[in-house]
Amino acid sequence: MGHTAVAAAAAQFYRRVRDATEALAAPLSAEDQTVQSMPDASPVKWHRAHTTWFFETFLLVPYLPGYRVFDPDFAYLFNSYYEAAGPRHPRPQRGLLTRPGVAEVTAYRAHVDAAMLRLLDGAAPAEPPAGLVALGLAHEEQHRELLLMDILSLFAANPLRPAYRTDLPDGPKAGGGGRRLSFDGGIRRIGHEGGGFAFDNEGPAHDVLVHPFRLHSRPVTCGAWKAFIADGGYTTPTLWLSDGWAAVQAQGWTAPGYWRRHDGAWHVMTLGGERPVEDDAPVTHVSLYEADAFARWAGARLPTEAEWETAAAGLPCTGNTVGSGRLRPAADPAPDGDRPLQMFGDVWEWTSGAYTRYPGFRPAAGAVGEYNGKFMANQFVLRGGCCVTPDGHVRATYRNFFYPHQRWMFSGVRLAEDA
Ligand SMILES: [Fe+2]
Repeated sequence: MGHTAVAAAAAQFYRRVRDATEALAAPLSAEDQTVQSMPDASPVKWHRAHTTWFFETFLLVPYLPGYRVFDPDFAYLFNSYYEAAGPRHPRPQRGLLTRPGVAEVTAYRAHVDAAMLRLLDGAAPAEPPAGLVALGLAHEEQHRELLLMDILSLFAANPLRPAYRTDLPDGPKAGGGGRRLSFDGGIRRIGHEGGGFAFDNEGPAHDVLVHPFRLHSRPVTCGAWKAFIADGGYTTPTLWLSDGWAAVQAQGWTAPGYWRRHDGAWHVMTLGGERPVEDDAPVTHVSLYEADAFARWAGARLPTEAEWETAAAGLPCTGNTVGSGRLRPAADPAPDGDRPLQMFGDVWEWTSGAYTRYPGFRPAAGAVGEYNGKFMANQFVLRGGCCVTPDGHVRATYRNFFYPHQRWMFSGVRLAEDA
C-alpha cells in the first residue's frame, strides 16, 4: 500500500473503533453513564473521556502542530494511572464527577476525532508512530470491554436488575460433555514473535520447557459449578488456598459473582438482566481463588500460561466475542474432537501463571511504558478473551491480568492435569 492507502486504512480503523465505543454507550442514560459501582469499576462517561484523553495526550499534543487541547482541566480528571502524565483524580471517586456531563464528553470525543483524522491524513510534517496509534486503538478496545463489565456491575447492584439490552439473542443451550486432550512435553516457543500489533507484555518470544499435560476440551460449565456448590465447595476449607479461604470468609462467597438463588433455582445477572443459570454455559465471574478450589475439588489444576498457549497455537482466534451479540457465555454444540473448544471468547480463562515479565521484556520508552509493566506484581494471567471482548482483539499470546480476588470480569476456568 502507498502512503495514501495506509493513511486511509488507519483512518477507517480509527473511525470504526471510536464509533463502536459510542454504539455501546448509546443505550445508556446520562445517569447510567455517571455512577461508579465500586473502586475497581469506572463510569461509562469516564471510559469515553479517558480513551479520548489517551489519543489527545500521547498523539495529538506531541505530533500535531497547533493542536488546541479541548480543556486543560481534563488531564487531571481523565488520566488513569500515568505518573509521567501528571497528577490525577483518585480512581475511587470517578463516580462523583457529575461534570463534565455526557454532552461535553461527546463534544470532547468529536474534537479529538477531528484532529486525529487530520493527523492520520498526514496533516503533520512527520507521521505519528504507527505503534502508538495501534496502542491507542487497542487501548480503546480494552476499555470497550471494561465498559460492559462495569455497567454489568452497576446494574447488578440495582435491586430492579435492569437489563443493559433486552434484545440479546440466545446462544445454544446444549454443549458436549468435553474430554481430556493430551499434549506432549518438550521445549516450546511462546510469546509474540513480532509482526502485527501486540502489547509489550506479550513478548519477547522465548523458549519454555513444558511437561506432558492434559487439558480439558471445554471450559468448566455452570452445571459442574452447581455440583461443586452442592458438594460443599464453598464450605470446605481444605479445598482452598489460604488467601482464598480468607476471601470466602470475608466476602461471604457461596456461589460465583452475580448468582442468586430464588424460586428454587440459581439465577445470574447478565447484560440482558437476571436469567436462570444455563447448565452447559461456561461458568463466569469466578475469582482465581474459586477457580483454584474448583480445580482441586475436581482432582485437576489450572493450566500454566505455556500449556494454554501451546494448546491454542494454530486455532483461529474467533469465538463468542462481542460480535455475537449475546454478551454472555454460551454452550458450544460443536462435537468434541482432538482440538480444544471455546479457547477464544466466552470467558477469560484463569491460568496459574503469575503476571510477570518474560525474559528480555523491556517496557516501551516514555509514559506509555507504564501501560503494562508496572502492574507485574501480585496478579495472575488470564487467556483467550470473553463474550464482551471486541472481535479480533485477542491473540494466542494475549496476556490479560487481574488480582486473584477479582471477579467482576468475565473470568472462567479450564482444567488441566499432569499427564
Ligand atoms: Fe486506560
